Amino acid sequence: MFVVSYGLGTFASPLVRVGAHVVTESQIHSLVPPDVEDVLIDACAAIPLPDVATPVGGPVTITMGEELPAARRLHSEAMDYVRHFVDDVRRGTQVDLSAASPLVQNFIDSVFRNETAAVTLFKLRGFDEYTYTHSINVSILSVLLGKHQGLDKTTLLNLGLAGLLHDVGKAKIDGDILNKPGKLTESEFQAMKAHPLEGFNILKDQVGLDPEILRAVVEHHERYDGSGYPQGLKWTAIDRFSRIVSVVDVYDALTSRRVYKNAMAPAKALSLMFQMRSLQFPADDIDNFIRCIGVFPVGSFVRLSGGEYGIVASANPVRPTKPEVKVIMDSSMCPRRPCILNLAALEGTPEAQDIAEALSPVEHRLNLERYLDA
Ligand SMILES: [Fe+2]
Repeated sequence: MFVVSYGLGTFASPLVRVGAHVVTESQIHSLVPPDVEDVLIDACAAIPLPDVATPVGGPVTITMGEELPAARRLHSEAMDYVRHFVDDVRRGTQVDLSAASPLVQNFIDSVFRNETAAVTLFKLRGFDEYTYTHSINVSILSVLLGKHQGLDKTTLLNLGLAGLLHDVGKAKIDGDILNKPGKLTESEFQAMKAHPLEGFNILKDQVGLDPEILRAVVEHHERYDGSGYPQGLKWTAIDRFSRIVSVVDVYDALTSRRVYKNAMAPAKALSLMFQMRSLQFPADDIDNFIRCIGVFPVGSFVRLSGGEYGIVASANPVRPTKPEVKVIMDSSMCPRRPCILNLAALEGTPEAQDIAEALSPVEHRLNLERYLDA
């Protein structure tokens, strides 16, 4: 859990800010004196801990630094394709899917060379132009999650296409509704809820499109408890692609900035999604996703318990709350020479630190991409 503070704010029991996650019992003793009776926790900031730590994917064949140039080219290629594709849909011209499969194949190849490089880069670059970046983020994250579920490459290609195309129907929705800063009226909400079926109508006549792709387009807002739309399906009636795309879709939406909301830090988004277990999503689907990307996904911007700031450089599948962190700023948020801290290796030493807080880089106006290479 995330401990905000302890004490009552009185002279006898002064309020002391903690601002740290407690994961093990020994940490409680180091953070809170034994005589404390009142502790304020933030349930939304809690770190979900999957029961079983599963190693992240198969063997990494090349390093993130080696894969980044290809990932950058891939991001530009993807943005060009999606911009043209969405413009075609808006104009009502026949959509051309011929370049979509090679693009998704490149996503797959990148993820198989290095699981985190392209996923991390896409996410760090994805704070503007949500319409386009959301599609490519959902596509590559679906590929990553599908890979962890052991899907073969042919199935991953169709799954990645499902992610890329899942929101195509939004191109038919009035931009004033899509980007409205305030709450939608009932009629605006109904218009928004039409996008899965709009997407189906745009794609249904495409020759050779796998039926599971169409199902994901229609079903990605259906929910485990039947509370979704457009059909209010219960989970057993929802296709496997739709299940993957819907989890990834929610994660990317929460962690993206929109005109009407700030971007949520990845760990906070995962914590919120953990609360959706057995409600909007089956518990296993949420747990599998958290195992797949880690409690603190690579690229997360974090504050360490020592006060310095860093970026999660690599996950620790065995100790999900103890990743490697590249420290990039001192406690005053002034840049410093980057250095890597392995939080698991430091445990039990005088230099031991924890992740105190996961932060959204965009809210601090930071461009973290340059630190991926350093
Ligand atoms: Fe959608």
